[in-house]
Amino acid sequence: MVHIKKNRFVDTNLLDPSLLKRSLQTRFIGKNILAFNKLASTNKLAKRLAKKGTAEGSLVIAEQQTRGKGRLSRQWYSPPKLGLWFSIVLYPKNNYEYLGLTSLLASVSVAEAVEELTALKPTLKWPNDVLVNGKKLAGILLETEFSHNELTFLILGVGINVNQTITDFPIQLRSQATSLHIESGILIERTALLAQILKNLEENYTHFVTGGFNRITEKWKMRCPLLKNKVSFQQNEQNIDGIFEDLNSQGSMLVRFPSGEIKCIHTSE
Ligand code: BTN
Repeated sequence: MVHIKKNRFVDTNLLDPSLLKRSLQTRFIGKNILAFNKLASTNKLAKRLAKKGTAEGSLVIAEQQTRGKGRLSRQWYSPPKLGLWFSIVLYPKNNYEYLGLTSLLASVSVAEAVEELTALKPTLKWPNDVLVNGKKLAGILLETEFSHNELTFLILGVGINVNQTITDFPIQLRSQATSLHIESGILIERTALLAQILKNLEENYTHFVTGGFNRITEKWKMRCPLLKNKVSFQQNEQNIDGIFEDLNSQGSMLVRFPSGEIKCIHTSE
């Protein structure tokens, strides 16, 4: 499945929506594809489409993002043709308390696809980072909109560093970020990788909408080396250490502090 290319003419390696369509093994995710050379942010456009009621599973993908958004109002560096920058529109009917599980299931789906297509073994960091050899390979940005306490839509934004070399990253990111190419030494066919991720996403999302929450948290925990180990937090500019004991059924982190108290840590997007 992985295509090894002899050289790095990325211009000939454009994402091809019609090839993607033919490679897809999904029922609804990616059946409607909106592909662009350049967008400010795929999440931003996906939100606009979701407000108009676009089909569930609609995929917005761009070769480059000029204002890619990361979690906690950070920027997401999204250079042309070297990564996968995409967003999926979903309308789950689950109780909103469980929605955080969708970002966990997205990171599981990315890790599974990487493992299926390469010899790499990605690990997961709470809430939704995908790491290889301790460096960040991919991130998920979950955005939701509610009306009268009901979810209107959910956007799953996924960013994956695929064919960058280390010098393709800005200097300030080089110690923390990595790509599939850096870690595996091969160039990855992005369309094949995307098709595999969407297949996994649909399977894992189907567990989610049918209430298989445990299945998602178990899959996530299997890939998390920090589980049962020390984790550190910043609170009021102080570092606090605790033990990452477990995930609860909604995907929040349960941490035991030195006092013996167990606290539930929620994400803040
Ligand atoms: C993170 O901070 O780890 C989340 C990064 C999410 C980046 C992706 S790239 C596609 C989608 N569009 C965006 O603007 N952000 C997400």
